[in-house]
Parts: sequence; structure tokens; C-alpha cells
Amino acid sequence: MSLRKSLKPLAVIAGAMFAIAPLAGHAADLEVKIGFAAPLTGENAGYGKDLQNGVQMALDEANAQKIKIGNDTAHFTIVAEDDQADPRIGVQAAQKLVDSGVAVVVGHFNSGTTIPASQIYETAGIPVIDPAATNPVITRRGFKNTFMVISTDAQNAGNAGVYAVETTKAKRIAIIDDRTAFGQGEADEFEKAVKAHGGNIVAHEYTDNKAVDFSTQLTKIKSTNADLIFFGGLDNQAAGVVKKMKQLGMNAQFLGGGGVMDADFIKLAGDAAEGAQAWEYGRPLASLAGGRDFAAKFKKTFGVDIVSYAPFGYDGAWAAIKAMQAAKSIKPNDYRDALRSISFEGVTGPISFNPDGSLKSGLSTLYQVKNGAWVTVVTKGGS
Ligand code: ALA
Repeated sequence: MSLRKSLKPLAVIAGAMFAIAPLAGHAADLEVKIGFAAPLTGENAGYGKDLQNGVQMALDEANAQKIKIGNDTAHFTIVAEDDQADPRIGVQAAQKLVDSGVAVVVGHFNSGTTIPASQIYETAGIPVIDPAATNPVITRRGFKNTFMVISTDAQNAGNAGVYAVETTKAKRIAIIDDRTAFGQGEADEFEKAVKAHGGNIVAHEYTDNKAVDFSTQLTKIKSTNADLIFFGGLDNQAAGVVKKMKQLGMNAQFLGGGGVMDADFIKLAGDAAEGAQAWEYGRPLASLAGGRDFAAKFKKTFGVDIVSYAPFGYDGAWAAIKAMQAAKSIKPNDYRDALRSISFEGVTGPISFNPDGSLKSGLSTLYQVKNGAWVTVVTKGGS
């Protein structure tokens, strides 16, 4: 027998031992699938990827900490679905996550997908923690499995409405909304707050979330002599609105709701961004304990800056992990009550839920573009 031949069986035996050893270790671990859904392609993909990174960061930390759930060491993995910001695909994505046996879902991004997808999770009895979608309907349906770690547009766009009337003293307020569940929800909440505070709405115009030209709406609004324009929709289009306002020589104030205050708005709008105001969910990250460290760690891990919603994804994932830890179980029927009564200091602020699943201490912050950068003006609770 040559040396080579005699070594071969040994190598096979050793290989088999190594194959068995990690398996034996692995058997003591608890694999926990964390579902995630957001737009990962298309116009909103940047937001979706940002959220996913936030969730991944929480899971990486939990895995590094070797979190125990009962007697088992949990190993968390993300199961991500691209809902393409499309309500129909959102429902399919939700069903896929349910079918793949996820213990919880952190998602989605758009209100338009979150509203129908949360019905799927409700039927399946799987908690969904919403880190970004803000239409108040999401938590107004009495669902037992829907939780939000972000404030709603009743708070955020509501604050914008009160601000428009009481602080800016605008006398002739116009609205444009993108007719999505999000933009329309914002516009409705804004309008409600304006009217409740005695403000005067002179126009409510509509677009859709694909439009790039706002001449028709703005020409009509110009003829009403509006002195403030509120836009219900996201940053790309908000930038198109302020650019067109400038081209038309309009000097009405521009006020956005959530999803406008980010770097893309300024990049896309250029000079026309100057003076724009927007209410955004939560507090400025830099003002929160751990906020700066979070931003630095995020950049180091993913090589990119936070776009906007990643910290909410991170807090949403931790809410689920902490509830499972407290309940010593990853089964929704075991940990749902622990989630309902959770209370911890997240990177976005205190996380605990109202009985309807909305965030207890929902805050929002007004920002304004000054010298080409967003600066913080004020932070407020819900109106
Ligand atoms: N807050 C945005 C929405 O609800 C992202 O769609």
C-alpha cells in the first residue's frame, strides 16, 4: 500500500468527523428566519436597500451576541422579498414570506404595499413590524399583528398642517398629492389639520407617483395666489415640484411631509431646494444617544451612508428579537404579547406600542434647506 493510498481513508474519516462536529453544534442552535419586504428594484430601491441594511445590522449584532431564546442560541437570518413598491406584488411577497416560515416580518416601505400585505400577515397570525409606511390606516384596522416603529402621518403631516397655519401664517394653502396610499394619506391629514386650525385651502391638485411634469397643477395653483404649497409624496417628485415652481416664478413656500428630507431632494432640485421645508418622522439621528455611533457603524459595515429609514428597520428588528427573548419562543402566539408590551430605548428613540400597534412616542421633526443643506428647525410630538 502506498503512503498516498494509506492516507486516503484517514482523510475520509477525518473529513467525516469534521462534518459531524459542526452539525452537532448546529443542532443546539435555533434558526430564526426574519422576513423582510420592501422595494429592492425600481424607483424606491434606495429606500428599500437602506431599510434592509438596517435590519441586517440588527441581526448581525444579535448573532454576534449569541442571543439565547429559552435554552437555545438563536441564529437570525434575513429572508428578503422585493415588493417593487407595487401593492399586487407586495401581497405576493407577503404570502411568500408566510410560506417560507418566517417568525416575524419587518416591512414594508410603502403604505400602498403595507396596507394589503398586513392583511396577509394578520390572516397568517405573523407579526409585521412596519419601519417606514406611515398611512394611519395601517394601525386603525384593529389588527393584532401590526406594529409600527415610526410615527404616522396623522402625527407628521398633522404637525405640518398645524405649522402651516400657526407658524408660517400662510393664508392661502395649496396641496398636491401623488394619489398613492402614502401621498394621499399625508395630504388628507395635512388638510384636516389645516382646517381644524382655521386655515384656508385654496387648491388640492393631484398627480401620480410616476409623473415628472407638474406644470398643469402648478399653473392652476399659481392662479390662486397660494402662499404655501404642501406636497404629499416622496423626494424625487418633490424636487420636480420645487424646480417647476422656480421656473414659473412662484415664490410660495414649499412644505413637504415625510420622505422629502434627504440628500436626493437637494441633489435633484439644486438651487430650487433652497428654503424648502419638510416634516420628517422621528428625531434627528445625531440628537439621539447612540445615533452618531449607529451612523458610523452603518457606514463602516455597508460602505454607504444611511439614506433615511435604516434606523427604523434596525429598531423594528430589535423589537422582534427582544420580544422573542422575553417570551423564550419564536412562535408568534408565544411572543406576540411580549411584543405588545415591549419597552426599550431604540436608536430612533423609545420603542413601545399603543394598544392599536402604533408607536407610543411618535415624534416628528421640521427641517429646512439652508445654504444647500437640511438643517433642523424643531421636533414635536403628535398633534
Ligand atoms: N412613509 C412612506 C409611505 O408610507 C414611505 O409610503
